[in-house]
Parts: sequence; structure tokens; C-alpha cells
Amino acid sequence: MLPEQHDILWTFMTMAYTLFAFYVFVNVIQHCRENEGVNGKLWGGIFGAFALISFFETVHMFDLVQADQMTFIFQYQILTVLAILLVWGVFFKSQDIQNQSSPIIRAFFFWSTVSIVLAGYTNWLPQQRSDPPPKAAAIAEDLTMEEFVEMGRVIVFGAKQVAGAKAIGKGQCPLCHTFDPGDLSGRCPNLFGVEERSHTRIKEDRYLNLPMKIGELEQVAGITKGKPDEIPEEYRRTGSPDLIGEDYLRESIMCPSCYVVEGFGKDADTKSPMPVITKPPVSLSPVEANAVIAWLQSKDTPGEFSNVTVPLPTASDAVAEDTSDDEERPVFVTGTEPIEQMINTLGCPLCHTIPGIEGAVGELGPKLFEKINAPQRIKDPNYKGSATNTKEYVRESILDPGAYVVFNEAEGEPFPDGLMPTTFSQMLSVQALDKLVDFISQTEAPPEG
Ligand code: HEC
Ligand code: HEC
Repeated sequence: MLPEQHDILWTFMTMAYTLFAFYVFVNVIQHCRENEGVNGKLWGGIFGAFALISFFETVHMFDLVQADQMTFIFQYQILTVLAILLVWGVFFKSQDIQNQSSPIIRAFFFWSTVSIVLAGYTNWLPQQRSDPPPKAAAIAEDLTMEEFVEMGRVIVFGAKQVAGAKAIGKGQCPLCHTFDPGDLSGRCPNLFGVEERSHTRIKEDRYLNLPMKIGELEQVAGITKGKPDEIPEEYRRTGSPDLIGEDYLRESIMCPSCYVVEGFGKDADTKSPMPVITKPPVSLSPVEANAVIAWLQSKDTPGEFSNVTVPLPTASDAVAEDTSDDEERPVFVTGTEPIEQMINTLGCPLCHTIPGIEGAVGELGPKLFEKINAPQRIKDPNYKGSATNTKEYVRESILDPGAYVVFNEAEGEPFPDGLMPTTFSQMLSVQALDKLVDFISQTEAPPEG
């Protein structure tokens, strides 16, 4: 393990902790000598053991890669130090010699460390805020529009939120879209006001003709543009075949390339980088797609549902698909899942083309051919990250995408920095991350032809 692979802070901290543990050990021994009637063997044994544990933890830290060091220090070493501090306090108290412990240590080190560490520790643990998940049973007779819209909101943002992270639900929309007025960050349209736009867009010349005409078939999605009565039956609305706003929204998620918002497409706005939301990896069911549309139609007018035109699902729709626990699951992969499922859960295919993963044809980020790409990136004079081999580069790209921003040769500009989420470390177990890194490190371009 090369020294530069370690974060200097963690390395410093782990050594400081061990030195501290030995210092406490020596300090306790001294007190045992100076004070009669103290069980020196017992206390010496306890603090000796602490010092050894701390020492071995430090040794172990040097076997870890940087990404795992922080986890280890917070999970084990800080707990050891806390235990030492507490038992140390007990030691002074039980011998009735509190007054002999160094006042600086008593006043400052003990309390500030305990409180800072506790605060840091609890902050660091992924904090989950749970909204009551929408009741699946409620889809039966008594579902109100308010509840249906809430179901859509949960599909978009998820029922649980991890502190400091963008809330992202099964629909994955916030990976790309923003929703509040004026929030212009990102490469994808802000969806504020989309309900209003849905009515005007379908009358625009641009909608009627670009990038394809009404009635033409869009190959990727298998959808005929502008024909609500030709949408696959499960997703089709009932009623008149004339285009309405609802149809624009449904088409936006079922056939993104049927119409490409100006400036947000590829190949001169003829292709949308947005995935077909009703196909893998996202695969919203008909009821879920309608819930999302109902949410899109009402989100700009909180508490007011008169713009919603999608019908409430019937009890038989609910029986046809079991939407029960999907949205309740926090997005977290343990590493026991098959690799394809892991990658789909994390949403990588929405932005990346990944050989070996079916339907992973995303285009917002570089194609993941890392067997060839990674060594090239590391050799780039502009590379400022700390990876020295392919696996380390892939790991760094997943945990800290900004460490190196890939240049998009086809477009002649860098890929957007800050688009790839920086929160994957909170969604992956250590084992899952290893498995993902192993897989992505092996990806290469499929043979020509
Ligand atoms: C991988 C990124 C990505 C994801 C995920 C994504 N979109 Fe999009 N979306 C885009 C891009 C890029 C456009 C603009 C190009 C186009 O018109 O297709 C767009 C366009 C749209 C539009 C048309 C906006 C307008 O102003 O006319 C709607 C509506 C929409 N998306 C809804 C959604 C919903 C709902 C979801 C989640 C279920 C979603 N999108 C997920 C990238 C994404
Ligand atoms: C919202 C879009 C998005 C998602 C989701 C996403 N990425 Fe990325 N990714 C990007 C973009 C954009 C870049 C290029 C910019 C950069 O290097 O930061 C990138 C860069 C990378 C790179 C470096 C590629 C190279 O050739 O150097 C790797 C590896 C990578 N991503 C892996 C992943 C994995 C694994 C996942 C899922 C856990 C994922 N990404 C999810 C957008 C995304």
C-alpha cells in the first residue's frame, strides 16, 4: 500500500489515537504506583488491553484503502477511544483521585472530545427521515386524488430521505431534473410549470414536426408520436383521441425522443438523453406512470387538484400490479444482489452505457469502457486524482466523481461536472462497492460489427 493512498487526516488521527491510548496506559500505571490500595494489575490490564486494541486498529488502518479508512475510524477506533475516556473517568472516580487527573484533560479533552465525537458520529450515520409510505391498500375504492398524487410524489422523490443527499425515488427524475422556479442548475429542463407547458407545447409547430411528425413511429420507445389512442393498451387513457396536455406528459416519459425540448437533446436535438421511464431500468407500471403524471399536473398548485386529468386507479388496476413495498425501500444495496440488479437500483444506466448490462444505454455520461478508459485517464497530465490503477480509478470515480472530469470527445467539451451524484457511498455497503468496482473495472467496448 502506497502512503499517498491514505488520507493524511485519517492517518494522523489513527496514530494520535494510539499514542493517546498508550499515554493513558502510562498515566494509569503512574497513578497506581503513587496511590496505595489501587488494584494496579486490574487497571493496568484494562488500559494495557485498550492500548493494544488501539495499536492493532492503527496497524489495520494501513491495510485499508482511503475510502474505507473513514468508515473504520468512525466505526471502531473512535468507539475505542470513547471507551478509554469513559473507563479512565471511572478509574479516577473509583479511586477518589479525580483531583489528580490533569485538569486540562479533564476539562477540555474529555468533554469536548465526547461531545464533538458524538455529534460527528450521529451526523455521519445516514439519517433517514421516513414519511408514512402511501398505503397500497388505499388504491382500493377509497383512494383520493390527494393520496394518488402523493403516491406519484413518492415515486419521484422516495419515501425516505438520506440527510444531505438529493431525495430520489424509484422514478429517478431528480437525478436529472429540478422542480423549483429559478433552479436552473443541470442539463435537463426544470419541470416547474410543465403542466401549463403541456397544453401549449402540443400546439407548437415544433411539436408537430420535430424531430419527427405526428403519426411517425419512434423506434427506441416503440411509440407512435402524438397518437394517444395508439399508446400500448395498459398505459392508454380512455376517451377522445384528440391530443391533450396529459398526453404530452405521458409521451414525455414513455417516448422522450418523440419531442426533444430545445437545447436539451443530442445530435441537434433529435435524440433525448432521457430514458424511457416505462422500460427498464426504471420500468414504471401503468398505475405508477399515471401517479407521476397526476403529480406533475398538480405539483405547482399545492392542495389543488383540478388540473389533474388522469383518472384514479380502480381496485382491479391495483390487483393487476403489486405496487406495495417498492417505494418503501430505502435505496441501499448490500452486495448480495446480482450485479445487474445492483447497477439498476443505483441508476447508473440512466447516464451510462455499460457493456453487459441490458438496457444500459444512457448518454449523459461517458460510455463505461473502463478497462481501456481508466489507464488513459490516469496517464492524462490533467489527472489530479490519487488512483494508480484501474480499480482505484473506478472506485474514485464512483465515490468522488469530481476528482477527474472526463472530456467528451464527441461534443468537444468536458462532460458536465457535478451531474453524477456524489452520494453513492451512502447507498453501498463496503462489499457492494467492491463488487461494483470489480465489475466496472472489467468493462470494455463490444467488438465491432
Ligand atoms: C437521465 C436523465 C433524466 C431522467 C432520469 C429523467 N429525465 Fe425527464 N428529461 C430529461 C431531458 C434531458 C429532457 C429534455 C429532452 C427531452 O425533451 O426529452 C427531459 C424532458 C422531460 C419532460 C419534458 C419537459 C418539458 O419542458 O417539456 C418531462 C415532462 C420529463 N422529462 C419528465 C420526467 C419524469 C417525470 C421523470 C421521472 C419519472 C424524468 N423526466 C426522468 C432527462 C431525464
Ligand atoms: C446523473 C447521471 C449519472 C449517474 C446516475 C451516474 N453517473 Fe457516472 N458519470 C456521469 C458523468 C456526467 C460523468 C463524467 C463527468 C465526470 O467525470 O465527473 C461520469 C463519470 C463516471 C466514471 C468515469 C468514466 C471514465 O471513463 O473515466 C465512472 C467510472 C462512472 N461515472 C461510474 C458510475 C457508476 C458506477 C454509476 C452508478 C453507481 C454512475 N456512474 C452513475 C454521470 C452519471
